[in-house]
Amino acid sequence: MSSNALSTDSLVAVIGAGAMGAGIAQVAAQAGHPVKLYDNREGASAQAIDKIGAQLEKLVARGKFTAEQREGVLSRMTPVDNIEALADAKLVVEAIVENLDVKRSVLATLEELCSDDCILASNTSSLSITSLAANAKVPGRVVGMHFFNPAPIMKLVEVVSGLATDPAVAETVYDTSLAWGKKPVYTRSTPGFIVNRVARPFYAESLRLLQEQAADCATLDALMRDAGGFRMGAFELTDLIGHDVNYAVTCSVFDAYYGDFRFQPSLIQKELVDAGRLGRKTGHGFYDYSEGAERPQAAELTSELPLKQCSIVGSAGPLMSLQERFVASGVTLTPVEADQAAFDGMFRTTDATIALTDGRMACQRAVEDGIDNLVLIDLALDYSKASRLAISWAHNTSEAAVQQVVDLLAAAGITATPMADVPGLAVMRTVAMLANEGADAVLHNVGDVAGVDLAMCAGVNYPRGPLAWADQVGVARIEAALSNLQASYGEDRYRPSLLLRRLSAQGKSFHEQ
Ligand code: NAI
Repeated sequence: MSSNALSTDSLVAVIGAGAMGAGIAQVAAQAGHPVKLYDNREGASAQAIDKIGAQLEKLVARGKFTAEQREGVLSRMTPVDNIEALADAKLVVEAIVENLDVKRSVLATLEELCSDDCILASNTSSLSITSLAANAKVPGRVVGMHFFNPAPIMKLVEVVSGLATDPAVAETVYDTSLAWGKKPVYTRSTPGFIVNRVARPFYAESLRLLQEQAADCATLDALMRDAGGFRMGAFELTDLIGHDVNYAVTCSVFDAYYGDFRFQPSLIQKELVDAGRLGRKTGHGFYDYSEGAERPQAAELTSELPLKQCSIVGSAGPLMSLQERFVASGVTLTPVEADQAAFDGMFRTTDATIALTDGRMACQRAVEDGIDNLVLIDLALDYSKASRLAISWAHNTSEAAVQQVVDLLAAAGITATPMADVPGLAVMRTVAMLANEGADAVLHNVGDVAGVDLAMCAGVNYPRGPLAWADQVGVARIEAALSNLQASYGEDRYRPSLLLRRLSAQGKSFHEQ
């Protein structure tokens, strides 16, 4: 396929030599373009280039870059202190302060300066490309080119089209990003684009679980890491991002979607912001980072004697790799016919019946389906590797039954972590809500299935795209979990996307639609 990427002799101009602008300038120079970096703070662009030189020096010392490559990159970067110097650029990427009026005025200056075929891209993470271009003389060349921090490392570029963006311009930005070694995705100018919209439930569900005292921060973080396969849990991650920043993004997405409760900000996060506990940067967020402060440990249930036998009712379905892990760990597994559909896919020990959460509370499911000693287990990214799983149980489940489940999981080297009897546990409800948001983004043409999944993996390092994850668990199962969560809470927040319902009714997966 032919590429519409800008040729490497095209001048790329970057405006704003802050965290993002400097990184973007480095990416373009590494790809071989001459780059001019402009900032209205005197000396800021020269300083930024010096800093890039120092960082590349470290990479040379570690053998990740050659001295010639470093020299090449630096020789292609020119700091400039006046905007007129950008007149001959073919692509301008603006990465200045996140303020619509300021960005519009810089855009107006660029329109006067640059030729009509110069692409004017903005790295904005929250402003509308449509409104940015509203008064432009040639609005078709205004486009979003949204990098992620740190730009030289993070692969994703969201290529954002506003109402007037010329598709050929978006294509050139897409192909150029590819040529720069990035993973671009097309998206439309809607609040949060793909990543900052689809990621909201990752924070929101953990925050809600904490608020409901389902488990503490350390336990929920450990579950998202050790069972969910995410690099960090929501509390350690928001402590790193800064609660002021993360809370502001949530509020802006919530407001932009006219107060849709799916995006409702969290009162406990607001309280941290109010208290000035902004996370690592202030030494205190959900965790205390002061010297000598003890890091809390995740809750665990201990096993004295691993349990070496259980039965499986019907087919294990999404728990198949857990079944295989039990067998590989020396557990004797007896297959049993499913006498009722409600029991299909459950493990049994002498006392306990063990089921994957379906979005109902254990107490509710035990009563509705007539199951004694019910213990629920959470979803895992990969049951063959998970080192921890959340479990919850019904009010009438015996202590012995719970202990048998702890002992069975221990036989396979999995630590059982207790949660209160909340619907959907931790990983299942988070993944279901991520997939739901991804489904709505596809339904509303904000991105396609592959683009949504790629954006979440390349932009925020998710271990699997949420739609591919939904396909793996089963679209119908995800839809059922959401419907059950919606019924449990009586809240619109958990309403399944129409696309999820449609695929579920058609028996299709996202990747088959
Ligand atoms: P920053 O505050 O580190 O840098 C902004 C730079 O722009 C400063 O050096 C400032 O002097 C300069 N500047 C401000 N107004 C200017 C003007 N009128 N003309 C020329 N230079 C001007 O900000 P950061 O974090 O680099 O963000 C820049 C843009 O990138 C914003 O639109 C932000 O939303 C977006 N963004 C930020 C991400 C992040 O993680 N920080 C991630 C993705 C996008």
